[in-house]
Amino acid sequence: MMRICFATNNQHKLEEVRQILGDRFELISLKEAGFEGEIPETHETLEENSREKAEYVFNQIGIPIFSDDSGLEVEALDGKPGVHTAHYSGSRDAVSNMTQVLQELGDSKNRKAQFRAVVTYIDKDRSEQFEGIVSGRLTHKIQGEGGFGYDPIFMPENHEKTFAELSDEVKNSISHRKRSVEKLANYLKSIF
Ligand code: IMP
Repeated sequence: MMRICFATNNQHKLEEVRQILGDRFELISLKEAGFEGEIPETHETLEENSREKAEYVFNQIGIPIFSDDSGLEVEALDGKPGVHTAHYSGSRDAVSNMTQVLQELGDSKNRKAQFRAVVTYIDKDRSEQFEGIVSGRLTHKIQGEGGFGYDPIFMPENHEKTFAELSDEVKNSISHRKRSVEKLANYLKSIF
């Protein structure tokens, strides 16, 4: 079975991606690959940060690897918070971050937003990127208890509930991460 490192230590993400990739690949975390320490994130786009993450780790551990970088992009805010999604309000606190975005958006009629994920795959012969997007709109207030991050203010299109009100199953079947990793899975299956 081919070993691939997913550049994360987030157990939840690992499980989710394991299910998408199937049992043809053995997915290991950063920790299991023996990587410790901080990964730099120095750029202003998801594409560059995702690539930087994958290259940085690949240069240290040398086994096939993929990273993901994701963010919320709000149309009326010119794509913000974008790469700054994780600590938009200055902290990682989810409620502060959601409050900051809702305040900036105010009563704007245009509430279109999307989550976007960029996955970068690297091995000694290849480097590829895959994008996944889920479109939707922002609510006026926080709704629901499930999920994480900005889930309670994001309603995916064709649904009248936020990601935090929908089941994990439904969310994970349409999410940006699912869509980007599915493309990666198809790519890996075509070359290995
Ligand atoms: P990262 O790429 O995992 O660092 O994600 C960046 C930030 O985007 C996270 O800290 C979350 O705030 C937000 N985010 C990414 N994916 C999701 C999601 O599926 N739901 C809600 N927020 C998300």
